[in-house]
Amino acid sequence: MTLVGSKQVRVGTIDELKSRGCIVVSGDGHAIAVFHHDRGAFAVDNRCPHMGFPLEKGTVRDGILTCHWHHARFDLCSGGTFDPFADDVAAFNVTVSEGVVWVDPSPTPKDRVEHWHSRLKVGLEDNNRLIIAKSVLGLDSVGCEYTAALKAGTNFGMIYSNEGWGQAMSILTCAGNLLPDLDEGDRLLAMYQGLRHVATECAGKAPRFVVDPLPAGETRPEIFNKWFRSFVEVRNEDGAERCLRSAIDVGLSQSDISDMLFAAITDHIYLDSGHTLDFANKAFELLDHIGWDHAGPVLSSLVHGIVTARRSEELSSWRSPIDISSLVWKARKALPSALEEGQTRKVTWDKEDDLSDVI
Ligand code: FES
Repeated sequence: MTLVGSKQVRVGTIDELKSRGCIVVSGDGHAIAVFHHDRGAFAVDNRCPHMGFPLEKGTVRDGILTCHWHHARFDLCSGGTFDPFADDVAAFNVTVSEGVVWVDPSPTPKDRVEHWHSRLKVGLEDNNRLIIAKSVLGLDSVGCEYTAALKAGTNFGMIYSNEGWGQAMSILTCAGNLLPDLDEGDRLLAMYQGLRHVATECAGKAPRFVVDPLPAGETRPEIFNKWFRSFVEVRNEDGAERCLRSAIDVGLSQSDISDMLFAAITDHIYLDSGHTLDFANKAFELLDHIGWDHAGPVLSSLVHGIVTARRSEELSSWRSPIDISSLVWKARKALPSALEEGQTRKVTWDKEDDLSDVI
């Protein structure tokens, strides 16, 4: 092997290449497979980007290189794949001079950040765990913050499930919450777990079409609050979502928006066994990570769940043989005065251990 200048790697004569079909050379840290095809020479990284099978052992037909392990196919000229599970393979420039073939071992430069973002999107769309795992590692290797993967998973999860926020988005948020307490390897694993749950939950679902905010008009928090609760009360999803989107769009504060949501969620008893409340909490935690500018799509994804949730007072188990719901309403009515009264009897309470024993 001879180097010309700083870069070019000698492959062999064109006749040698023609008779052998493929010659592997190394340069710049790459093993490069140089193929002869249709009177031309083409070079790609010898490592299949799917799982590393040597591409020199593949087959070239009609300009398409097929890897023999899982049959990923690549355009020999550009390295682009026809099978997104595999990713594009790096292609290298080849020149033929005086009957000798040379390859430039520096691959065509590409934006690595953009590349791993687009691979993560493919992984989420295909619900392909290998691509998701590689993309999490890839984004980390190019110095992206953990929020990059979190935002990508959020954007995907907000669009590709017509049921809106579900268990997977809560898992992704939990992964984000755990990151500060995990060591590096576990951080990547946690992010992968969150993302792969999002991909699985969205797989096969229809996309969600988001509702636009109202034209500029109402800005009073108490009116939005009233509207939202009344739409939820009658299970009117479009009205509730448009109201919430508008309230966010006109710039109501985070606490006004959370009042709206949590008031509507607690207007009835124990929605969906508490999941609705838990999901709303998680959505706000997610926004703490990725920023309030994502509030529109993130919070409106809760609306479907809030509107369609099972209200526990509708269940016979809450009504019979004892009407638990009426006891709850009674207790709730008594709560403000009990709290007020409690203010005057404030003491330090240190019976946590006794309570946990009882529980
Ligand atoms: S390793 Fe090449 S297709 Fe799987």
